[in-house]
Amino acid sequence: MNSDANPNDHRPKIMISDSPPGVSDRVSRLIADALSENPSLVIGLATGGSPVGTYRRLVNLHRTQGLDFSQATTFNLDEYVGLAEDHPQSFRWYMQQNLFEHIEIDPVRTNFLDSMASDIAETASQYEQAITDAGGIDLQLLGIGSNGHIAFNEPSSPVDCRTREVRLSDQTIQSNSRFFDSIDDVPKSAITMGIGTILEARKIVLLATGENKAKAVAAAVNGTISSDCPASLLRTHGDVIFVIDRAAASLL
Ligand code: PGA
Repeated sequence: MNSDANPNDHRPKIMISDSPPGVSDRVSRLIADALSENPSLVIGLATGGSPVGTYRRLVNLHRTQGLDFSQATTFNLDEYVGLAEDHPQSFRWYMQQNLFEHIEIDPVRTNFLDSMASDIAETASQYEQAITDAGGIDLQLLGIGSNGHIAFNEPSSPVDCRTREVRLSDQTIQSNSRFFDSIDDVPKSAITMGIGTILEARKIVLLATGENKAKAVAAAVNGTISSDCPASLLRTHGDVIFVIDRAAASLL
C-alpha cells in the first residue's frame, strides 16, 4: 500500500535529527509547546530507553523556564504484570524517577495501569473510562519495538484492540532483559493500552533512535499497513510525527 494508492494511508510527518540528543530536544519541545498552549493537556506517556532524554529535557524546561505541569493529566501506556509499583523496573517507578519527582504535577492526575490488580480486565476497562472522562488523550508519546510493536501491542495485535493483558513476545523479553538482572526476571506479560485506544489520541509523536530500530521504522513508514507491524497502523491516523535519528532512519 502506498500513499498514492490509498487515501486512508497517511504518511507520518518525519523529523530526522543527527543523533539521539537531537531527538530528545525536538520531542521535548513538541510537548512543551503543546503544554504551553494548553496547560490542561492530557498526555499519554511512554517508558523504555528512548524517552529518557526527553524527560530529562522537560525537567530542565520546568526548572529553567517554568514549564508548568500542574494542570496536566497523564496516562502511561503500559505496565508489566506482577511488578509492585516500587519495583525499580515498574513503569510507575520509572516515571517517578525520570519525570514526576522533578516537576510539580498533581499525583491524582497521573494515571497508571494497576498490574497487581486481582481483576485485570476490570482495571483495563476502568482505564479506558478514565481516559474518556479526561476528555481523551491530546498528545500520545510512543516508542517502537524492534519488532514494530507500539506500547506492548506485539505483532498480530488487532487494529481495534483495547486496553488488556498481553503476553510479551520472546523478542520483547530479550530486548527488555537489558533492564533486569537476568532474562528470567523479565515479566512474561503486561497490561497495555490497545492499538484502538492509542489511535484515538488527537496527536501521536513516535520517537526512535539507533540502528536496531531502522527495520521497524522502515516497515512502519513504507511497508504494508498491517498488524504484522503494529506501528504501520499509525498510518490510519492523520496526525502522527516520527522523530528519529539518522541511524533509525537509515533504511527509509
Ligand atoms: P526502548 O523501547 O525505548 O527501550 O527501545 C521502546 C519500545 O519497546 O516501545
